[in-house]
Amino acid sequence: MLKKCLQESNYTVVMTGAGMSTESGLPDFRSANTGMWTQEDPSQIASTEALNKNVEKFFTFYRQRVLGLNECEPHKGHDILARWEKEGLIQSIITQNIDGFHQEAGSREVSELHGTMKQVHCQTCGKIYGNDTYVEEKFQCECGGKLRPSVVLFGEMLPEDAFMKAQVESEKADLFIVLGSSLTVTPANQFPMIAKQSGAKLVIVNLEPTDFDIYADLVIQDRKIGEVLEEVNEELEQEER
Ligand code: NAD
Ligand code: APR
Repeated sequence: MLKKCLQESNYTVVMTGAGMSTESGLPDFRSANTGMWTQEDPSQIASTEALNKNVEKFFTFYRQRVLGLNECEPHKGHDILARWEKEGLIQSIITQNIDGFHQEAGSREVSELHGTMKQVHCQTCGKIYGNDTYVEEKFQCECGGKLRPSVVLFGEMLPEDAFMKAQVESEKADLFIVLGSSLTVTPANQFPMIAKQSGAKLVIVNLEPTDFDIYADLVIQDRKIGEVLEEVNEELEQEER
């Protein structure tokens, strides 16, 4: 069914959430027991308020995430999406993830709605550094300002260019595939509906139900993203043989 949707579509957009990277070893946010926000209160650590008033906890939390990120890498699902882009099967990816794994796997058209943890920047002068500064516990810029990951924190606006690109891509899609997102956070969770309202078919691949399943043309909840993508890729390769 997903293979058929892909083959019939002229413009396919994929939107990924943290569930896309759990098979790389990165925890997501809201899965029962393992999600990061089941252990921590995000507003106390992943927010502008935390950066200004709870800075030691902020630095510790994000340094741990940088160390975790640097030990993980894209999995086969990321590689398949990059190959499908090269083959013209999908046109772009909108991601809420900050791990940079889509680009690392070779995807080129990627809108990072929530920024990236691959780099940090100075809160005062904006100077950009690699995230190795956090590994080395260097949290201060040469100008004396605080260094923070270049991610969107709770309470912040999303980067305008990524937001607008995601809006345009969602309107152009005739197939919109969500991979691994609970679709609980605005404004990211608006894009599947923008696509649907623009006439796209909506597919949601997620291990848990979402509030948008009722609008989807296809919901896959019984298999992990990696398995789903490998199965469809295998079917497509069989047909080419
Ligand atoms: P929120 O529920 O307050 O939603 C953000 C608000 O800002 C919404 O009203 C949205 O419509 C609006 N908005 C944001 N960017 C916009 C833009 N470019 N143009 C128009 N409207 C825009 O969100 P929040 O709970 O304050 O979190 C803000 C964002 O930060 C969320 O997307 C969240 O996923 C993200 N976040 C990222 C991390 C991380 O580690 N990357 C951690 C926490 C939150
Ligand atoms: N295959 C399919 N689904 C999966 C897999 C997998 N291998 N692993 C996890 N999931 C599902 C989980 O069941 C969960 O519903 O992915 C979903 C991930 O949802 P969240 O943890 O809420 O992550 P996400 O939707 O990306 O969160 C959005 O919230 O805190 C902010 O900025 C943060 O970008 C994040 C945003």
